[in-house]
Amino acid sequence: MKILLTGGAGYIGSHTTVELIKAGHSVVVIDNLSNSSEDVIKRVEQITNAEIPFYKLDLRDNLSCVFSEHAFDACIHFAGLKAVGESVSLPLRYYDNNLVSTLNLIKTLEAHNCKNIIFSSSATVYGTPAEIPITEQCPKGICTNPYGWTKSIIEQILTDLYKADTSWNVIILRYFNPVGAHQSGLIGEAPKGIPNNLIPYITQVASGRLDKLHIFGNDYETPDGTGIRDYIHVVDLARGHVAALTAIKNGLSIYNLGTGRGYSVLEMVKTFEKVNSVKVPYIIEGRRAGDIGICYSDPRKAMRELAWRADYGLEEMCRDSWNWEQNSRSVHV
Ligand code: NAD
Ligand code: UD1
Repeated sequence: MKILLTGGAGYIGSHTTVELIKAGHSVVVIDNLSNSSEDVIKRVEQITNAEIPFYKLDLRDNLSCVFSEHAFDACIHFAGLKAVGESVSLPLRYYDNNLVSTLNLIKTLEAHNCKNIIFSSSATVYGTPAEIPITEQCPKGICTNPYGWTKSIIEQILTDLYKADTSWNVIILRYFNPVGAHQSGLIGEAPKGIPNNLIPYITQVASGRLDKLHIFGNDYETPDGTGIRDYIHVVDLARGHVAALTAIKNGLSIYNLGTGRGYSVLEMVKTFEKVNSVKVPYIIEGRRAGDIGICYSDPRKAMRELAWRADYGLEEMCRDSWNWEQNSRSVHV
């Protein structure tokens, strides 16, 4: 299939490009490079030995130059702003970027008769989950930040679109906690400034760029008191998109992409130290506002219907994150 990837220069989009090309698909990327660089596309070309047509474009702008040159079978829509804290201080930037982009993209896809779309959503739409492990039947919850609301609203827009016109095929993928990097060490996550998420913070502490990890709370109802999450290797997540393409003719579907296993912050720290023979000094602090104690998926629907499951374990996630950290110093801003 010929696939349009929005946000394809980003963390998950770049890994998905690799897996799509490996599976025999062809890929065209649109990205405005607001959180990435064109060098990523070159690195993906190096990994795949393929040429990737790339358009540096904002999705809120006129996209006809792309569609006049390519006819697409499907679109995977990754592009969006994703920093939770920033979305609280700059809500209009988030609503404008994420919602206007999506509306413009959908209208353009429709005008060019490409009605197959896969959307990058997040476990954040469950809010404080009503059940653990979280199945797709779990009701959506109250989001604690504008970023989360953009995901929830876009899910609703896509659902309404499908209800109005069932010739659309929509797959909503709710990611749990993507971590790790490509084994080549050529692509990975390169957060700007001080990282918000756990693994990028740990890698920067291990490399000495940051002093110590601040663990946000050890008084949750978990065995060691620290928060539990469902970390998933980004290459497994990328393969989830390849699997989802095989189901793109079935109307509207929602899938959790996670491993179904939760690990605590302390387990992450200890595994990272053991696998990579490094030290990660930490201190325990109070809870982070808006955090929940436990969040992990029931991934069985994706296993059943997409014949997909996450293969990599925690050790590979920690190993590949560290490998990327050591290879990527020139990429960090
Ligand atoms: P990322 O920031 O690395 O990639 C997103 C890409 O979109 C960037 O390259 C950015 O430049 C581009 N972009 C943003 N706004 C754009 C616009 N208006 N026009 C064109 N390009 C634009 O993020 P990621 O981690 O790869 O996440 C990809 C998607 O998955 C996002 O929608 C994100 O919200 C979602 N998601 C990510 C996580 C995670 O933990 N990484 C978890 C759940 C969901
Ligand atoms: C974050 C996002 C969420 C997104 C999810 C998946 C926030 C508030 N939420 O949630 O919207 O869907 O990633 O990408 O950013 N931790 C520390 N110290 C740190 C960083 C994290 O102790 O410096 C702890 C957290 O309290 C949590 C765990 O590590 O228990 C994971 O945190 P993080 O990587 O930020 O992911 P989420 O909290 O799941």
